[in-house]
Amino acid sequence: MKYDFDEVIDRRNTGSLKWDFYGRYFAEEEIIPMWVADMDFRSPQPVIEAVEKVARFGIYGYTEETWSYHEAVIEWLKRRHNWTIKQDWFHYSPGVVPALHWIVKRYAHPGDKVILQPPVYYPFFEAVETGGCHVVNNPLQLVDGWYKIDFNDLEEKAADKRVKMIILCSPHNPVGRVWGRDELERLGRICLDNNVLVVSDEIHADLLLNGHDHTPFASISEEFARNSITCYAPTKTFNLAGLQISNIIIPNPVLASEFKVALENNDMSRPNIFALHAAEAAYRYGDRWLDQVLAYFEENHALVKDTLGKKIPEIKVIPAEATYLAWLDCRGLGLDKEELAAFMEQKAGLGLSQGYIFGEGGEGFVRMNLGCPRSVVEEALKRIEGAVKSFCCR
Ligand SMILES: Cc1ncc(COP(=O)(O)O)c(C=O)c1O
Repeated sequence: MKYDFDEVIDRRNTGSLKWDFYGRYFAEEEIIPMWVADMDFRSPQPVIEAVEKVARFGIYGYTEETWSYHEAVIEWLKRRHNWTIKQDWFHYSPGVVPALHWIVKRYAHPGDKVILQPPVYYPFFEAVETGGCHVVNNPLQLVDGWYKIDFNDLEEKAADKRVKMIILCSPHNPVGRVWGRDELERLGRICLDNNVLVVSDEIHADLLLNGHDHTPFASISEEFARNSITCYAPTKTFNLAGLQISNIIIPNPVLASEFKVALENNDMSRPNIFALHAAEAAYRYGDRWLDQVLAYFEENHALVKDTLGKKIPEIKVIPAEATYLAWLDCRGLGLDKEELAAFMEQKAGLGLSQGYIFGEGGEGFVRMNLGCPRSVVEEALKRIEGAVKSFCCR
């Protein structure tokens, strides 16, 4: 089946956070919302059919994750990432973010330190801080338009005995890097040597662009697997965020039993029945849809890069190796963070995620969600062009 991602679907009045609630975050009615990370596309047809089947059945009682669901995920990870996992490594969580909150509370003590690599997905900071821990920044380095891990800094920070954990974003939101095996090996070795647990958020792992390969952190070696918790989900991959399901993969049985206690204490150990069936259908039958949507993202990213490159040299596009999120370096506009937010919202009419919310190194950048039809991206680019021209000719 060939999917039509050019179709513009009106999501207003559907309870969509992106479309119906952006008034909470942005002032103007006519703003194009390109912020929160979901797509304006329907999920794969087999997913829609699975949800319809559950809806028609009409009994929505308690569930439990089934072998059939786990089998679908196991086969997917083998097929897409060459990673072999076992069924008893699986733990359910309604989302990666709630899991991160439980993980910080369970595996660190108040007053401990957790390393983050900003600019990074901002709920990481909240998870650390609400767990009573302190964030230690290991900022990414932007060298010639490309982000790198600062390993010397990481080595120094990991040596602090109060540092218990790193939350790795792999692939990285918002900078779009797919970490290479060598980078992950180096990071994993530093963490092992210093008894730092690696919590690897791999929610964007399936959204690989332009031939990039994802290396699951825990797949690198047995000792890395035993020193890690991987947070993985079908929700970004197949646009199921509203269904709330994720897979927390913990190969180390000691760590796993603690996570189980955290889940049970929160009475959160069972999935929503729609999520369970939708996610299984996605993993079993979603490859074609995913391959098509990834090709579409590549073209959306290329359009942004070419258009801004030709017309608005003040804005530089960071190359995206994964995800439908474009990370734009707007420092050339010479605006401070409030001015940049006001400029994008009031002059360009775009609801973007402002870079400064992603922590150190994010100021002067914006994140633009390209999980939308091409015509919307074109309109957004026109708006940016018009706003920059009128701004520069003041
Ligand atoms: C890196 C990362 N982790 C987690 C999430 C959210 O996960 P969930 O909806 O499963 O809580 C997102 C959403 O954008 C994300 O980008």
